[in-house]
Amino acid sequence: MRRFIIDTDPGIDDAFAIGLMMQSDVEILGITTVSGNNGIDSVTTNALRLVNFFNRPEISVYEGARKPILRESGTSDGCHGTDGMGNTYLPVGNRIVEEKHAVDFLIETIDSSEGDIEILALGPLTNLALAIQKAPEAMRKLKQIYSMGGGVNHGNITPFAEFNYWVDPEATQVVFDFGIPIRMVGLNVTEECIISPDEFALLSRSENPVAALYYQMQKPYTAHYMNRDKINGAIIHDLLTASTIFDDSIVSFETQDVRVETEGEKRGATLIEPGNGKPVSLGMSVDVKKYKSFVFEKMFRIKLKA
Ligand code: RIB
Ligand code: CA
Repeated sequence: MRRFIIDTDPGIDDAFAIGLMMQSDVEILGITTVSGNNGIDSVTTNALRLVNFFNRPEISVYEGARKPILRESGTSDGCHGTDGMGNTYLPVGNRIVEEKHAVDFLIETIDSSEGDIEILALGPLTNLALAIQKAPEAMRKLKQIYSMGGGVNHGNITPFAEFNYWVDPEATQVVFDFGIPIRMVGLNVTEECIISPDEFALLSRSENPVAALYYQMQKPYTAHYMNRDKINGAIIHDLLTASTIFDDSIVSFETQDVRVETEGEKRGATLIEPGNGKPVSLGMSVDVKKYKSFVFEKMFRIKLKA
């Protein structure tokens, strides 16, 4: 069974991705939180809410970086609701965050492994970068990273940069420079995958309590995308990233030399620069139908029409 640590800033789309992982045949060794969509207290509470909802007492939550490596925190524009998860205000139950810091959990768990641990990184890469800087030899045992971030000549927080990599471009550069295999799922593929209000409405007609929760959760996020971007639905960036773990044919990847810009107006931009960037497995195209069918069936037990 594949073994994962989920590093995340929940966040509605993070919550979708975590819901997919919770219902999949993988071992989740722990969840580490990072300031991103919301501040660290909010994203950590939301991680606890999700492990409580899915009744997974064996999965521990570790609080991570409160701010980026060098810069001040950047948070999203409220599209995740007042609780950061679509105003669902799920109960935390008796779950409590671990004493150990997320960075130390990452280092100790990876160092004691056989080199089989993979990371699903759904937020800024601050925790990973801090772990690499603190214990490079230990982190060298990490097998691979699936990272939602970046894009090809496109941004969502600025015209040039995607949010996760914009929040902490220095951390992104540390992770890219370190050389662990990275599968980068960027805006160039996530923004192809708009889930429509009609498709979300299928969740409201399902008997499945997971579908009912996520139907409620997506409401402010979909409203945000329809109002701001005038699109017919919402883009669940982190869910596409997680889905690539299970089906290699959803997104096609190409190895490209990618450089992360850390200065000026293009801060956080990911630029394909052969010979100058670092080799990254970059998501280049996506089978949208296959993605939607996979996640609706796997997460909600709903078969979409062919
Ligand atoms: O740009 C989208 C990414 O930034 C997603 O991971 C979202 O959750 C936010 O973290
Ligand atoms: Ca995220």
